Amino acid sequence: MTRTILITGASSGIGRATADYFAQKGWNVAATMRSPEGQKPSSPRIRYYRLDVTDTESIRLAIDGAISDFGGIDAVMNNAGYGAVGVFEAASMERIKRQFETNVFGLMNVTSCILPYFRARKSGMIINISSMGGKTTFPLYSLYHSTKWAVEGFSESLHYELRAIGIKLKMIEPGVIKTDFNTRSLDFINDEKLAEYQPYVQTAMSNIEQSYTTGDTSETVAKTIYRAATDGSSRLRYPAGKPAPLLLALRKLIPERWFIGLVRGQIEK
Ligand SMILES: NC(=O)c1ccc[n+]([C@@H]2O[C@H](COP(=O)([O-])OP(=O)(O)OC[C@H]3O[C@@H](n4cnc5c(N)ncnc54)[C@H](OP(=O)(O)O)[C@@H]3O)[C@@H](O)[C@H]2O)c1
Repeated sequence: MTRTILITGASSGIGRATADYFAQKGWNVAATMRSPEGQKPSSPRIRYYRLDVTDTESIRLAIDGAISDFGGIDAVMNNAGYGAVGVFEAASMERIKRQFETNVFGLMNVTSCILPYFRARKSGMIINISSMGGKTTFPLYSLYHSTKWAVEGFSESLHYELRAIGIKLKMIEPGVIKTDFNTRSLDFINDEKLAEYQPYVQTAMSNIEQSYTTGDTSETVAKTIYRAATDGSSRLRYPAGKPAPLLLALRKLIPERWFIGLVRGQIEK
C-alpha cells in the first residue's frame, strides 16, 4: 500500500526537497503551500493543495482533499515557518505575533486538525521541523528561537500522549541550510534610529550571513526526514545538516558559559 505524506510550506527549501524525495521513494505527496497556482510537479505522485497554516479552513480543506485523492494520510510534516530576526526592541507586537502565529500556532493548528483522523485509525506520524535553534540560541534571533524552543517543548510533551494511542511524533532539527529562509522568507527587524544597537547588528548579521554561504542542502535534511519517517523506531529527535549534530552535542556536553563563549566567538568576532 502506497503511503502518503502531507507537507506544509512545500513551495521552496526543505519542504519542496522533502516532497521530491518522498515521491522518488514511492510515497504519494500532498504538497501544500499558500500559493499553489502555477506549480509544476516533478512527479505524478505529487499533488498540490492550498494551505496557509494561519487559516484553519484551508488546513481542513487540504487534509480532506488529500484523503480523498490518495485514500488516506500516513504522515504530516509541519514545516512551514520563517525567521523574524533582528533587534527585539524594534519589533512591533504585530510582527512578534505573526512569528508565533506561523511557527507555533500554525504548527499546533495543523496538528489539531489531523489528530482526530490519526486517532480514529490508531496510527499516523507527525514530523515537526524544529531547528538546532530549538535548543541553542544565536544573537538577534530572540523571536525565532522562542518559537522553536516552544516547538521543542510542545513536541516532546505531546509525543508521550500520542505514543499511547499509536501515533508517532518526530522532531527534525536542521542546522544551517541554504534555502529561501535567509533571503525571501526573512523578516529582518531593525530601526536605525536605535543607534546603540547598530554596530552590534552589523557585525553579527555579517557573520551570520557568512555562515549561510557554507550551509548544507535541503536534500540532506530531506534524507534525514525520510529516515525519521521510515526507521520504525520511537526516536524523537533528528539533527539534520551541518553543524546541527556537533552543535547540539556540544550544548549537552560542555558547560553553558563555554557554549555561550563559543557562540560569541563566532558571531561577535
Ligand atoms: N534554512 C535553515 O537554515 C533552517 C534551519 C533550521 C530550521 N529551519 C526550518 O525549516 C522550515 C522550512 O524553512 P526553509 O529553510 O525551507 O525556508 P523557505 O525556503 O523559506 O521555506 C519556508 C516555507 O514556509 C512557507 N510558509 C511561511 N509562512 C507560511 C504560512 N503562513 N502558511 C503556509 N506556509 C508558510 C513558505 O511559503 P511561501 O512560499 O508562501 O512564502 C515556504 O514554503 C522552517 O520551519 C524553518 O524554521 C530552517
